[in-house]
Amino acid sequence: MKDVDEIVRRMSLDEKIALMTGGDAWHISGVPSAGLSPIMITDGPHGLRKQLEGADNLGQQESVPATCYPPACLMASSWDEDVPYMVGQALGEECIAEDVAVVLGPGVNTKRSPLCGRCFEYYSEDPYLSGKMGASFIRGVERTGIGTSLKHFAANSQERMRMSGNSVVDERALREIYLKEFEIAVKEGHPSTVMCSYNRVDGMFSSVNRWLLTDVLRDEWGFDGLVMSDWGAMSERVDAIKAGLDLEMPGPAEENAAKVRAAMEDGTLSMEDLDMCVKRIVSLLLKASDVVKRPYDKDAHHDVARRAASSSFVLLENNGILPLKKDANYALIGSLADRIRYQGAGSSRINPTRLDTIRDSFPTFDYAIGYDPETGSTTDELIDEAISTSRGKDASIVVIGLPDSYEAEGFDRRDMDLPQGQVRLVEALLDAGCHVAVLVLAGAPVVLPFSKRVDALLMCYLGGQALGSAVSDVLTGRVNPSGKLAETFPLRLEDTPSYGNFSTDDLDVLYRESIFVGYRYYDRKAMPVAYEFGYGRSYTTFAYSDLEIHADHVAFTLENTGSFDGSEIAQLYVGLPDSRIPRALRELRGFRKVFLRAGEKRRVSIPLTRDSFTYYDVVDKAFLVEEGEYEIGIGASSRDIRLKGSLHVDGTTMPHVRGDIDDFESLFDGPLPLVKNTGKMDMDTMLKDALKTPGGRAVLGPVADAIDRDFPSDSEHDRAFRQMCYELPIRGLWMAVPGGVKVGETVGRINEINGTM
Ligand code: BGC
Repeated sequence: MKDVDEIVRRMSLDEKIALMTGGDAWHISGVPSAGLSPIMITDGPHGLRKQLEGADNLGQQESVPATCYPPACLMASSWDEDVPYMVGQALGEECIAEDVAVVLGPGVNTKRSPLCGRCFEYYSEDPYLSGKMGASFIRGVERTGIGTSLKHFAANSQERMRMSGNSVVDERALREIYLKEFEIAVKEGHPSTVMCSYNRVDGMFSSVNRWLLTDVLRDEWGFDGLVMSDWGAMSERVDAIKAGLDLEMPGPAEENAAKVRAAMEDGTLSMEDLDMCVKRIVSLLLKASDVVKRPYDKDAHHDVARRAASSSFVLLENNGILPLKKDANYALIGSLADRIRYQGAGSSRINPTRLDTIRDSFPTFDYAIGYDPETGSTTDELIDEAISTSRGKDASIVVIGLPDSYEAEGFDRRDMDLPQGQVRLVEALLDAGCHVAVLVLAGAPVVLPFSKRVDALLMCYLGGQALGSAVSDVLTGRVNPSGKLAETFPLRLEDTPSYGNFSTDDLDVLYRESIFVGYRYYDRKAMPVAYEFGYGRSYTTFAYSDLEIHADHVAFTLENTGSFDGSEIAQLYVGLPDSRIPRALRELRGFRKVFLRAGEKRRVSIPLTRDSFTYYDVVDKAFLVEEGEYEIGIGASSRDIRLKGSLHVDGTTMPHVRGDIDDFESLFDGPLPLVKNTGKMDMDTMLKDALKTPGGRAVLGPVADAIDRDFPSDSEHDRAFRQMCYELPIRGLWMAVPGGVKVGETVGRINEINGTM
């Protein structure tokens, strides 16, 4: 191994500055003088999106064929750390075959609302589960010698105004909910790189946030890899270097390179500042140079995608109609059975090596499309056809879900509804007396008004390229469904914790619900939900008994009491009923997925550690344990606690919190950290705001015209993309117009015309 210090010592200033921004959209330039070649970094994370020509990070251009594994939303429902590990390892092998050194993922952000456009790319509403799944994925990839980029650090919970928005989060919620998943993934996964998010956190962009990128990430958590910007997340390059952001992506970023050179000349930056970043980049280049290219087995990887999906689908309802019976007669209804939705849109879009549709998996079933696959709308004729196809059958498998245009990176959903045409179709079939098993393809929770009327309901999320065969594994009973929800399915949007404070027109996004996210909120309000966190059924049944609680673990007996072999996910919840501070009723602190043959029983143990009891103390600035009698619950879901006991744990008797949890402003030490409006345009000003001024209209009018030409219609897709582009900051306009604008010059001219220099 070559010596990093020695390589960096011999590099010229120009070489260093060039290395600190991407060579292009997908490469880190090498160090030719040291014999280090450029390396490629590429999107993922549920597959490889290696683009050959034409760089874009919105998933519009084709990429090389690669296995499309199930996205995080589905993998999380496996609650099986071996699943993301297995997928990560397979993905690493594909990177090796394609000469890619770093894959951009996993995304572990805690899901704050089911409306987030990228919910499908994230794991859970619970940071412990997200962190564990993310860490396993990272370990799987990294063991092949390929790097990962843990993203999007941090508090990046919505797509609306993602490059400008300000996530206003109180310190305790930040630590317990929005940083926790990153903490676990960093400490247990050891990613090679971390990607900072676009947004501001409490008033400061992540890219220049030294507290986040250095104090917390490196000094507290011990991260020793490289930090890169999300694509175009760079706010102020010189400040970012001081904050600990090593690599700006994409590149080359000439305006920023010039700023760095000027800062070196006037002494704002020192050679030590630069060397710190350069060393981390050189270390990554060295690590990558050890990897030897070799091919991968496409069929074996397709099989990985299939197993990952079939171990993750969540059976929400079943009156015994599933598994399908060999001698029965079925119809297949719904155009998504044929035009399957198996991944989300945006930078994670994979070009699959092959595709198993649901229709291909059931070639003998009579089929009717039921609705339009693009819009989900239906007609009386389509419904009549579906009913006559279903008549005389033992049951119909009805495939519905969100069309592609509903869920994508770059914008959020406006509601949780399925297309009304699909709901009408299901209800018409039920009204006609048909037996119906519904399969839902969607990246996030949807409202399911018919859920208690149907015979079976299988949440397939987005299943990856082997969706069809994985569905047939589960419907036929070759695989017993064993997924459980990694997020709550609320009854209606109005019930969600962030309702009214999510994806609004406001740049400042107030996280008013604080620590009460997901099930923590619904439990606090004792609110009914459609399906709770941790819920999922099986073709068999399980019994829990004989709980023993020890200081370092709990043990209990799990028995498969039904007639199918199957896996159960046992969940460990901890609560402190007499806590002196506001707390969730119970929090997930451990889980185990256990396979048991029919009739088999086994003793299961789940560790308890200090972390199982901690809260974040805002005065002591540390995770502490409060002394008390903790309630330990072992549940088949968050609301189906099968075994209960208690444990006394020593600790502080004076836990500190700031303010009153129901008075958001009081949770902050001073005024809310909101975005300041100076009245002057700068590179962070959004296009829509710049256009409100004469200077903005004069200088950026042509950009607005180009956007209107690109997305002219009233369709949901064009409306969402138009909004996304108008809400880009001036420095991010390259995402909307080829070549972007010269940021410094543009801002200067606007202010000049506006007289706000
Ligand atoms: C996304 C990242 C992605 C990057 C590169 C950004 O817009 O937020 O998740 O890795 O583009 O495509």
